[in-house]
Amino acid sequence: MKTIIEPFKIKSVEPIRFTSEEERRSILAEAHFNPFLVKADDVLIDLLTDSGTSAMSAKQWAGIMEGDESYAGAKSFFRFERTVKELTGMSFVIPTHQGRAAEKILFSIIGGKGKFIPNNTHFDTTRANVEFSGAEAVDFMTEEGRHPEVEADFKGNMDIAALESFIRDKGAANIPACFITVTNNSGGGQPVSMANIRDTKAMLSRYGIPLFLDACRFAENAYFIKLREPGYADRSPKEIAQEMFSYADGVTMSAKKDAIVNMGGFLALNDESIAAQARTLLIITEGFPTYGGLAGRDLEAIAQGLEEVLDEHYLKYRIRSVAYLGDKLTAAGVPILRPPGGHAVYIDAKRFLPHVPPNEYPGQSVVCDLYVRGGIRSVEIGSVMFGKYATDGSLISPPLELVRLAIPRRVYTQSHIDYVVEVVIDSFKHRERLRGYAITFEAPALRHFTAHFRRLS
Ligand code: F0G
Repeated sequence: MKTIIEPFKIKSVEPIRFTSEEERRSILAEAHFNPFLVKADDVLIDLLTDSGTSAMSAKQWAGIMEGDESYAGAKSFFRFERTVKELTGMSFVIPTHQGRAAEKILFSIIGGKGKFIPNNTHFDTTRANVEFSGAEAVDFMTEEGRHPEVEADFKGNMDIAALESFIRDKGAANIPACFITVTNNSGGGQPVSMANIRDTKAMLSRYGIPLFLDACRFAENAYFIKLREPGYADRSPKEIAQEMFSYADGVTMSAKKDAIVNMGGFLALNDESIAAQARTLLIITEGFPTYGGLAGRDLEAIAQGLEEVLDEHYLKYRIRSVAYLGDKLTAAGVPILRPPGGHAVYIDAKRFLPHVPPNEYPGQSVVCDLYVRGGIRSVEIGSVMFGKYATDGSLISPPLELVRLAIPRRVYTQSHIDYVVEVVIDSFKHRERLRGYAITFEAPALRHFTAHFRRLS
């Protein structure tokens, strides 16, 4: 059979509140044309993020009841620790309330002024945590990763040659760790190949620099390796994930993605001295080492989710359903970043709205139109999120202007996705009517969350 079905039945449902286009027009204006400021109840299909928005399984909910809430030494911690150790091979496992808390703790220890942290592409909170420590965050995306229209298997890969010349230039002593983000979220949810992880590790070893994986979407990355990299077709997603982790010295993880839970994260690593310092910071900012920032029930749900996410039926459905959205849009001529990513489809707003220049935020214009037209909430990943100002006040734009349609795990069915396809195609048909935006208010950091906009006439 050709049809790939959702590998689950639905036991509990949440109603969607329907709104009219007219209502949404005024809701958006009240939210200053920033969908982050729209109430979730006013959204029909919420594709803002795949983070913390997953549907948990019956077994995960059962784990919630099983959770051991003892302050110290809870049995839920030991189940969580066992699962993470078995998967990652790391010696020390430190639970945190979400991914950025693990980042904050790690960079407080290894970061600081004069240090550099390379990454294939930093996610925004990772970059913010590196920079907050005083260190500099540097991206090393490969050339093919920079071109949305190029079809390639592993556009998330690290540019190893560029990274090595950077290390020679800055000195290995100033580079306390190098990161690879799997899949590469800011680069379009694109996977990193096993060969690239292995070769990056081999090169870093010559300089004595540890490799960390930002492993939020490790299972999706593992499944892409299975599908696309020679030699992996017959290996299980778990074996592939274990091999990925075998090249790493440490892991930061937001469990809100590939552990299929609503809250949680961890730091896992092999260096005993960093682990000891991290535990001290953990006690100050998160909690005692056997619960960190989480309740016992959360640890149970994460342990269960880490097992479920590696199920091959689940991953086949997951990767295929995102590709289904991307391929339908491509077939209708809508420009997207190709190929579709693991957790999201990214519309290429530069080609969608060639008449709106980057300093009028074409991505924001598409985001606003999808909301008004169909109640779909998406997020701009372009000049709003990453734009900086030159000394003369002009905008310095990032290379890509994207709109991310992130798909929550196990939440929406094929008909929801068909509806999204219809709305995006309709928006594309009317693209000439879309106008740019100007920012009327912005915070000094991570401005996209709270910015206010005005529509240009
Ligand atoms: N690293 C990556 C690659 C991420 O995508 C995220 C979160 C984090 C770290 C931080 O994890 O949210 O648990 O603190 N990404 C979400 C997103 C928010 O929408 O892509 P967190």
